[in-house]
Amino acid sequence: MLETGTADCRIVVMVSGGGTNLQAIIDGVESGAITNTKIVGVISNNKNAYALKRAEKSGIPFRCVSPKDYASREIFNEELLKAVDEYAPDLIVLAGFLVVIPPAMIRAYQNRMINIHPSLIPSFCGKGYYGLKVHEAALARGVKVVGATVHFVDEGTDTGPIILQKAVEVKQGDTPEILQRRVMEQAEWKILPRAIDLIANGKVTVQENKTIIEE
Ligand code: GAR
Repeated sequence: MLETGTADCRIVVMVSGGGTNLQAIIDGVESGAITNTKIVGVISNNKNAYALKRAEKSGIPFRCVSPKDYASREIFNEELLKAVDEYAPDLIVLAGFLVVIPPAMIRAYQNRMINIHPSLIPSFCGKGYYGLKVHEAALARGVKVVGATVHFVDEGTDTGPIILQKAVEVKQGDTPEILQRRVMEQAEWKILPRAIDLIANGKVTVQENKTIIEE
């Protein structure tokens, strides 16, 4: 029999902190800005992450997999991959997940794992650039334009194919915290839901480390 309709894209969102990007995804699914998508699970490495409360409030299954609970990094890596696999996701979304992704997970989810980074890659990215540090570095360099990037995750740090980027203006007197908030509001919370919607609707393909977006 011929099947009709598109099955929902099952996504797992991985978090470490406040979870404002997770909230933007939840809101996007609820409002219909993100279609064909079901958030099937949220995983945190940090049991105190407020992001887990957000998952709970929205009735989304969640769990914590912390390196602290395992004897070695290898065992943690295996357990993390197992936890992800149990949700059987079509797409993994790293939304402020500040843990190095195990190589086996990168291989298993090639072109099915995306990350939001709070800069215009290739500026202010790579090892050591995460969270507020990115904005501190941008202000220290005195750049006038910053932004955010959604990209597929590959073996490098912030080196995978870029899906979407959005620029944000730096203003006189910005602190790292003020700039971080503006980048979230004007860029991250917009491009991450948009990227998920595009992928869930089959509009993104990867060719030679670049993406082609069918708008
Ligand atoms: C976001 O700004 C995200 O871009 C950043 O962590 C923050 C998480 O905030 N991610 C990275 O720096 C990854 N290298 P949230 O928990 O409120 O979404």
